[in-house]
Amino acid sequence: MSKVKFYREEQIPLEMHKVRVVQKLTLLPVEERLKKIQEAGNNTFLLQNKDVYMDMLTDSGVNAMSDNQVASMGMADDSYAGSETFNRVKSAIFEVFGTEHVLPAHQGRAAENILAEAYVKPGMVAIMNFHFTTTKAHITRLGGEVVEVIGKKGLVPDSDEPFKGDLDLEELKKTIEKYGPEKVAFVRVEAGTNLIGGQPVSLENMLAVADICHNYGVKSILDASLLQDNVYFMKTREAQCKFMTTKQIYHLLADKMDIIYFSARKLGFARGGIITSHNRKYINDMMEFIPLYEGFLTYGGMEVRSMEALAVGLLESLDMEYINQGPEFIEYLVNELDKYGIPVVKPAGGLGAHLNCSEFVPHIPHEKYPAAAVATALYIASGVRGMERGSLSEQREPDGTERYAELELMRLAMPRRVFTLSQVKYCADRIKWLYDNRELIGGLEWVEEPKVLRFFFGRLKEIGYWQEDLAKKFRQDFGESL
Ligand code: F0G
Repeated sequence: MSKVKFYREEQIPLEMHKVRVVQKLTLLPVEERLKKIQEAGNNTFLLQNKDVYMDMLTDSGVNAMSDNQVASMGMADDSYAGSETFNRVKSAIFEVFGTEHVLPAHQGRAAENILAEAYVKPGMVAIMNFHFTTTKAHITRLGGEVVEVIGKKGLVPDSDEPFKGDLDLEELKKTIEKYGPEKVAFVRVEAGTNLIGGQPVSLENMLAVADICHNYGVKSILDASLLQDNVYFMKTREAQCKFMTTKQIYHLLADKMDIIYFSARKLGFARGGIITSHNRKYINDMMEFIPLYEGFLTYGGMEVRSMEALAVGLLESLDMEYINQGPEFIEYLVNELDKYGIPVVKPAGGLGAHLNCSEFVPHIPHEKYPAAAVATALYIASGVRGMERGSLSEQREPDGTERYAELELMRLAMPRRVFTLSQVKYCADRIKWLYDNRELIGGLEWVEEPKVLRFFFGRLKEIGYWQEDLAKKFRQDFGESL
């Protein structure tokens, strides 16, 4: 993609694939969009996809499949036990990671449940660069605690640090010593650190973490859900990786980390979840939970056709011409916003572009959910659906007080191989309009607040009537336009 130089045109990322199956989209008029977001309790998770123009909620399970993936699905061997499809998944994992032992799960959080069930006991800690919502929920559900050791640079929204997902190695050692290795359930490295803006971890840092864990006799676990983007950044930003193949990087990580797990809704452009290791012992620790929670050991709750697509998609994750599409489109969007002065997490990461809402709407305090407010405002302005990744995505403290997020982000995920560049330009254009009208955006308050993972199905309302004013201003500025 990036190797193609333009002659007289602006330098833009050029797709190395073509589209052969399409899905029709609708863009509702602004008055309808206002109505739809309010009916959805001002929660973008509760919008219907038919009412969305660009679905940038997530990159999970919505990546476009390749012709080879679709073709492979016809080969699925549907048997409860011992299916050939599972053997093909195992071969693909062996090719990509070099690991022999594989446990299937129905998606990433199911793998997290299994890991937590096997290793987290009340009073234990799980140390990680940064939590992910579902990871943390499983650990705390079992009486464990999450301790984050992200380096300080990770929480600076606007910087030119190439690896903001890196763990602070001194802090990691101190934390293991503070609790004692026997109290540490595991150390988890999240590739492409989701909640701080899809920011990568360097190979150097991952290997150092594995060594530290080894020295203390603590298990090291890699969450590889976003590893594909992370490997792209290692190859393009880290000197020692430039001449390594993608496969060498995947293999080296698997050799060093005790356990790898991932959501195949992200890694592998498919559906499902996988846990893999070189070490039979870890697999034995977890194996009994698979038939209990997921399904038999050769499907683990996955549907066989998705497993075939996963096997092919994993191999495609080795191909730089496939894996650079997401990060390069994201970089394009981030640069467009940045040129306009819009506060956006920099450098561009994987997964999506992230608006820094503490600066986008500085007049909205944490307790009025600035990032969720911007997500509703952007839907009204454009029909683009993003996701709140700020205080609303946090869980309240046990005493009921709010835990304010370190970063109030509104994420615009970039599903891989899905959008065209003109759609990305449209998205940037509407964000620019919204930014110029940001003083119109107001806060949100709860109508229904669930106790666990409240961001998924909680309902909120606008404080005052700012959404109506925003829609009116849109009409004034855009006339008849959708
Ligand atoms: N780990 C990471 C880093 C993730 O980003 C996700 C999912 C999971 C684990 C859980 O995987 O969805 O298959 O159960 N992230 C999605 C997102 C939900 O939208 O960012 P899952």
